[in-house]
Amino acid sequence: MNTEPNKKVFIKTYGCQMNVYDSERMNDVLNSLGYGTIDTPDDADLIILNTCHIREKAAEKVYSEIGRLRILKQARLVQGKQAVIAVAGCVAQAEGEEIIRRAPTVDLVFGPQTYHRLPQLIEAVTSDGKKVIETDFPAEDKFEDLARQNSVKRLARGVSAFLTVQEGCDKFCAFCVVPFTRGAEFSRPVAQITAEARELADAGVREITLLGQNVNAYLGADNDGKKFSLGLLLEHLSKIDGIERLRFTTSHPRDMDDELISAMASNKKVMPYLHLPVQAGSDKTLKAMNRQHTAEHYINLIAKIRKAKPDLALSGDFIVGFPGETDADFEETLALVREVTYAQAYSFKYSVRPGTKAAEMADQVPEDVKSERLARLQILLNEQQLKFNQACLGKEFDLLLERPGRQDGQLVGRSPYLQSVHIDGNGHKTGEIVPVCVDNVGPHSLSAHIVRRV
Ligand code: SAH
Ligand code: SF4
Ligand code: F3S
Repeated sequence: MNTEPNKKVFIKTYGCQMNVYDSERMNDVLNSLGYGTIDTPDDADLIILNTCHIREKAAEKVYSEIGRLRILKQARLVQGKQAVIAVAGCVAQAEGEEIIRRAPTVDLVFGPQTYHRLPQLIEAVTSDGKKVIETDFPAEDKFEDLARQNSVKRLARGVSAFLTVQEGCDKFCAFCVVPFTRGAEFSRPVAQITAEARELADAGVREITLLGQNVNAYLGADNDGKKFSLGLLLEHLSKIDGIERLRFTTSHPRDMDDELISAMASNKKVMPYLHLPVQAGSDKTLKAMNRQHTAEHYINLIAKIRKAKPDLALSGDFIVGFPGETDADFEETLALVREVTYAQAYSFKYSVRPGTKAAEMADQVPEDVKSERLARLQILLNEQQLKFNQACLGKEFDLLLERPGRQDGQLVGRSPYLQSVHIDGNGHKTGEIVPVCVDNVGPHSLSAHIVRRV
C-alpha cells in the first residue's frame, strides 16, 4: 500500500452517529496510509465532507461548505499545493454526479458503503486528476474488508465509543431517505463486533454505543451460524472486561423484542436509556408514514418496557407537518407525548425529500403551520426534559467521567440516563466511574458531587 507521509486530512461530519463512526473509520484508513488528521481545513491536502441527506437543510449545508472550500482550494493552488475535495456519506449516495455538476470544485464523490476503497479512490483522483464517482452498493462488506486490511487500527478517541453493528433499512417510512442512501438492512457478524469491542476496551474505552439505523432489528450470526438478536448481543458484549456500559441506538417500535427488554431489565451494564422514535401520535398519520404500528401499540410497548425497567429514560423523534396532518392529528401527537412522557427528544418539521413516497403526497402542510406546531411540541418536550432532570435532584448514580469541563479542575461525565453532569474533579480522571449525588439541575445538564460508598 502506498503511504503519503506528511499529508494531512480534514474530515467534517454531518448527520447521525453512524456518520461519526464512519468518519472515525475513514480517519483510521487514512492514518494507516500516512495521512495525519487535522481539525481545520486550511492546511489539508484532502478534505472530506461526510454528509447527511435526511432533511433539505442538512443537504444544503454541504453546498455552502463546498463554496467556502472552493476559495481555500484556489488559495492553495496559488501556493502550488493541492487540496482534494471529497463528498462522502448520504448526499454523495443520493446525488452522485449531480454534486460535481453543481459544484465542479469537488474531485471525489463516494457513498457510505465504499469507504474501504478510499485508498484506491484517492489514488485515482491524485494520479490523473480525473473526477471520481463511486456510489455502488458493493458485494463486499466494508467492515470485513477493513478488518482484512490489517494495518488499519481501530483508534479509540475517548472513553466512550460508537460501534456500528447494523446498517441500512428495509422499512421505507414514506418520508425517509435512509433506505435509499444506506441500502438494505445488514447485520455484522458477532465475531467481528466482539473483536472490535475488545480492541476498544484495550484502548481504554469504558462505554460502547451500538449503532444501527434499526439497531434493534439486529440479527447477526456467530461463527457456528447461531443467530444473535440485539438482546443476546448485548449480553455477549457485557462479558468483555473493561466495558462497563452499553447503549444502543436507534430502535424501531416494531422490533422491540422480549430478549432486548430482558437485557435492559437485568443486565447492569445495559444503561437505562432508550431512544424509540414514534414520529407522530395519530394513527392516520402513522399509517400514511408507513410506520407499521399504531399509537396504542407504542403506548402499550412503553408501558411494558417501563414495567420491566422502571427507571427508564425514554427518548424519541417527532415529525410535525407530515402531508395531510390536520390540527386534530397534531393534537394526538401532543396527547401521546403527555401520556408517554420523555426524558429527552428530537423534533423536526417535515422536509420534502426527493424520491420518497411522501414527496408526492397531496396536502403538503404550509411552512407557517409546521413552525407553529413544532414550537408547541418543543415547549411540551422541554418541560418534560426539565421535569425528568428535576426528579434527579438528590439522586445518587454512577457517573462515567468523559472530559475536562470549562472550569479549572472540573470534569464532565454522563449519567446512566445520558445527561451531562458536571463535578469538581478532585483528582479523579476521565475514564473513571464514580458515584455521585446530584445537587443542581438545569434543562440541559446537571451538577453533582462525588459521594463515598461504604
Ligand atoms: N431509523 C430511525 C430514524 C433515522 S432518521 C427511526 O426509524 O426512527 C432520524 C430522524 O430524522 C427520524 O426519526 C425522523 O424523526 C427524522 N426525519 C427523517 N426524515 C425526515 C424528513 N423527511 N423530514 C423531517 N424529519 C425527518
Ligand atoms: Fe428511515 Fe423509517 Fe428506516 Fe428509520 S425505520 S431509517 S425513519 S425508513
Ligand atoms: Fe443523515 Fe445518512 Fe445518517 S441521511 S441521518 S447521515 S444515515
